[in-house]
Amino acid sequence: MRTRTLNDGRVSLQVSELCLGTMYFGYRTPEDVAFAILDRFRDAGGTFLDTANNYGQWHGEAGMSERVIGRWMKSRGVTGQMVIATKVGARTTVPGDPDMRHWQGLGGQAIRADADASRRNLGVDRLDLYYAHIDDRSTPLEETVDALAGLAERDTVGLLGASNTATWRIERARGLAHGRPSYSCVQQQHTYLPAQPDPGQLNLITEELKDLAAAENLTLLAYSPLLGGAYSDAGKPLPAAYDHPTAQVRLAVLYEVAAELGASANQVVLAWLLSGDRPVIPIPGASSVAQLDEIIAATELKLDDAQLARLAGAGALASSPSGPAGRGSRNGRPRSRASAGVKTHHSSSPTPPPTSAPSTVSLSQCAAR
Ligand SMILES: NC(=O)c1ccc[n+]([C@@H]2O[C@H](COP(=O)([O-])OP(=O)(O)OC[C@H]3O[C@@H](n4cnc5c(N)ncnc54)[C@H](OP(=O)(O)O)[C@@H]3O)[C@@H](O)[C@H]2O)c1
Repeated sequence: MRTRTLNDGRVSLQVSELCLGTMYFGYRTPEDVAFAILDRFRDAGGTFLDTANNYGQWHGEAGMSERVIGRWMKSRGVTGQMVIATKVGARTTVPGDPDMRHWQGLGGQAIRADADASRRNLGVDRLDLYYAHIDDRSTPLEETVDALAGLAERDTVGLLGASNTATWRIERARGLAHGRPSYSCVQQQHTYLPAQPDPGQLNLITEELKDLAAAENLTLLAYSPLLGGAYSDAGKPLPAAYDHPTAQVRLAVLYEVAAELGASANQVVLAWLLSGDRPVIPIPGASSVAQLDEIIAATELKLDDAQLARLAGAGALASSPSGPAGRGSRNGRPRSRASAGVKTHHSSSPTPPPTSAPSTVSLSQCAAR
């Protein structure tokens, strides 16, 4: 697996080009399976893990994923050898009730206290990458910026990141830092398919965010790149936001390219995200070693220039009723997965689709499953 460098001009971290999502570790993915997945990821050269202080609260206890990672690193003697990203802001303050009304938000005290809790959970002295998990509009941004900068200045955390945050708020926060440590990584929802425009949805990688990232040397990370398995499993409906005519045209081209390469759609999606002048870092999840093997193999998949151009241009065909979506596909997906060479490893619990977000803690739909 190739590596990437994350850098804010102060701290530099070498990471694998894939970041493994661990959101379900400890509950949907039992600990022994999680350990096997982590072992395989590390054997393949994976060094970058994504977690959050709230993972687990939807089905049990917040912090489960962090604690599983901590126990795995300790048992394998690799603490300090992995790069761990974790997040703060969406942990419930009412155990047992994960409703977003109870989320901690991004006040200074919560940020400082939970950085210590995450360090204990993970068994590390320093959190390599610490994200604001949500865009908390009820806390003065200055307070959040100051608390995060303070942690970085004390070396309690390495790099800082923002997730599920409006582009203008990311840049405003960076400005308010006045040269102190601030966001250098941005984690948003992103995949090959474009989401249907929704005025309330500010958690996506957009052209504007890409432009900001290029100008300011920010690293973009894409969560839920496999749409919870919907690309490969006809039994999993596309999330509503991704079920629209343009997406269906793009799906048809995606499956054509996958068939040409003898690859799965998941692999082409990941190879697509890893390609181009400014690749993003995908954060896929896996609930088995077999799924992870398919994900890892995507790092070896080479899309040629013509395939990249076809994939990029596919949406432009959306207005044509005779476009590829009409050719033998159902919702853009082949009638038979085998016809596209798609390898599937399916479990029966689909990731719930994002829902629109409310109010004070804006955007958050995926922040805490
Ligand atoms: N910042 C945020 O707010 C935020 C929000 C969401 C997620 N995240 C991060 O992103 C990570 C990934 O999120 P996600 O789970 O939504 O991502 P995803 O990569 O879109 O979906 C992962 C799921 O896809 C299915 N899958 C994976 N490989 C497969 C294969 N080879 N064949 C068939 N199905 C396959 C599995 O579903 P089954 O288990 O059902 O088989 C797996 O759990 C999380 O773990 C978390 O670290 C961050």
